[in-house]
Amino acid sequence: MSVSLDRIHEADVRDRVAARVVGRSRELELLIAALSAGRDIVLEGPPGTSKSTLLRAIAGEWGVPMFLVEGNAELSPSVMIGHHSPSEVLSSGYSDASFVPGPLVEAMTQGGILYVEEFNRAPEDTVNALLAAMSERRVVVPRVGEFTAHNGFRLIASMNVFDNLGTKRLSSSILDRMCRLSVDYQSAAEERDVVAGHVEHVVTQGIVDAVEITRATRHRDEVRQGSSVRGAIDLAMVIDRLAAMRRVQVPVSTDGVAHSGPDYIQLVRDATQVALSARVHLHRGAEVTVETVLDDILDLYFAVDLDRDPG
Ligand SMILES: Nc1ncnc2c1ncn2[C@@H]1O[C@H](COP(=O)(O)OP(=O)(O)OP(=O)(O)O)[C@@H](O)[C@H]1O
Ligand SMILES: [Mg+2]
Repeated sequence: MSVSLDRIHEADVRDRVAARVVGRSRELELLIAALSAGRDIVLEGPPGTSKSTLLRAIAGEWGVPMFLVEGNAELSPSVMIGHHSPSEVLSSGYSDASFVPGPLVEAMTQGGILYVEEFNRAPEDTVNALLAAMSERRVVVPRVGEFTAHNGFRLIASMNVFDNLGTKRLSSSILDRMCRLSVDYQSAAEERDVVAGHVEHVVTQGIVDAVEITRATRHRDEVRQGSSVRGAIDLAMVIDRLAAMRRVQVPVSTDGVAHSGPDYIQLVRDATQVALSARVHLHRGAEVTVETVLDDILDLYFAVDLDRDPG
């Protein structure tokens, strides 16, 4: 028997989750408030902005199961609700025993969170099946019967604001049934802490550079979508490994100014291409390549850096 979302004090869950994630205190409170109020919610924001991290931590601390599905063309209603196992049907016919529950039925009956990533990529009949489950809190499966939702059941959907391939806007009838929380990139200081949590647990100059360069990819005219903090995590790791192999000292900032030599700048340039070039998406018809955009970002970044550092 799972624990109902309503029975545990929300502030405790908030404090315990806050100890596991960097920042996000406002989003965390709003998410917990909506969930504990029994609401379904759509999270809207760019990739890599803590949506899954927050949900996993909340579900973990709350002690409710979480079922994660990715919205794409293959997410049919039968994948979502469940299907009859062909071998069971052959041997003993259609029955309760032949039914293999999908994530919707599992989440409903166990009082869990159903997290549908990229909800707006799911086929329309699947979205409609979810809509019915949300409003009626039950689903009817042919030859099996009715499953009623445990009162802990919640639907959480996520949508990527940059996504314009294979997606549609959600209909107003869906949105009218959901709360919405918009999430955006975190501050540079928080992103440094996120990266440090994955890499060294202390903020090094390599981490500072990785975060600044990654953030710069989000503010270019040619760029439709820049890199998330995942790129900064990879960049910091590649800088670190490459520096060890090339025996290049990662500059230590003792006075708040990086003392970058040419070997280190070249190393960061190489690492940036590897870590970020797949993660930066240009506008259709842009007359530059991702590689040149990244090189330009590096030129500007280290020019500023060198200007600050007369030595
Ligand atoms: N606030 C945070 N605290 C700790 N780690 C974080 C935080 N935000 C992001 N991360 C880390 O960054 C990575 C991406 O975060 P996450 O998976 O939560 O993003 P998301 O919003 O679910 O992205 P997507 O839309 O692509 O699914 C993870 O490795 C996660 O550990
Ligand atoms: Mg996610």
